Amino acid sequence: MDILKMLKQRRSIRKYLGTKVEWEKLEKIAEAGIYAPNPGGRQGTIVIILDDAEIIDRIGIINAACENRNWGGQSVSEDQPSIIDDLSIKSGFYGCPALGIVCIKKDTKTNINAIGSAFVTAENMVLEAHSLNVSSCIVGRAEATFENSEMQALLMQWGLDPEYMPLVFVCLGYIDGDYPKAKPRKDGRLLYIKKENTL
Ligand SMILES: Cc1cc2nc3c(=O)[nH]c(=O)nc-3n(C[C@H](O)[C@H](O)[C@H](O)COP(=O)(O)O)c2cc1C
Repeated sequence: MDILKMLKQRRSIRKYLGTKVEWEKLEKIAEAGIYAPNPGGRQGTIVIILDDAEIIDRIGIINAACENRNWGGQSVSEDQPSIIDDLSIKSGFYGCPALGIVCIKKDTKTNINAIGSAFVTAENMVLEAHSLNVSSCIVGRAEATFENSEMQALLMQWGLDPEYMPLVFVCLGYIDGDYPKAKPRKDGRLLYIKKENTL
């Protein structure tokens, strides 16, 4: 598929069917993540994939509790309501059946390049997911979500290198309902400097 067309089509999806995502697809999505550009060629991100809906829900409830859900009436999405838009949503992962967790090294957590590398990893994952007809939503607050003994124990159980910490989540699953259209772009966000127009 034409990449620009795909970029324009992709939306953050927050309504999922319970249908499992095929493990082969999840592996491709994770692999896409680790092929993202990375600062200094360090390949500093680790991608965790899980497909246990019960555990995902438990982490998602903690994730939602980490957010101040009162944005003073400001809306994130009308057609795909977020935890800000609909306070009855209990999980910050919206019932998705599979979850990606992108981790970075703890000692780089304030390094803007390391943080950026987690997000470009997540972006690669959502684009690969879209190309496989799997819907997705990038979700933040990973650091806060794992800042408690229950979640730390989970990371240990999974065998995550203790030098690493979760930074961003990627919800994955099949959309429940129709796929929404992209929102129009705001004006004034592109500035082209063509040599023939400069003095
Ligand atoms: C860095 C980042 C963090 C995000 N965190 C959340 C989040 O915590 N919860 C959520 O529902 N969506 C989250 N999103 C998704 C955005 O809300 C979404 O991309 C935005 O509303 C535009 O919608 P679209 O992706 O459908 O074009 C995040 C996106 C990015 C890039």
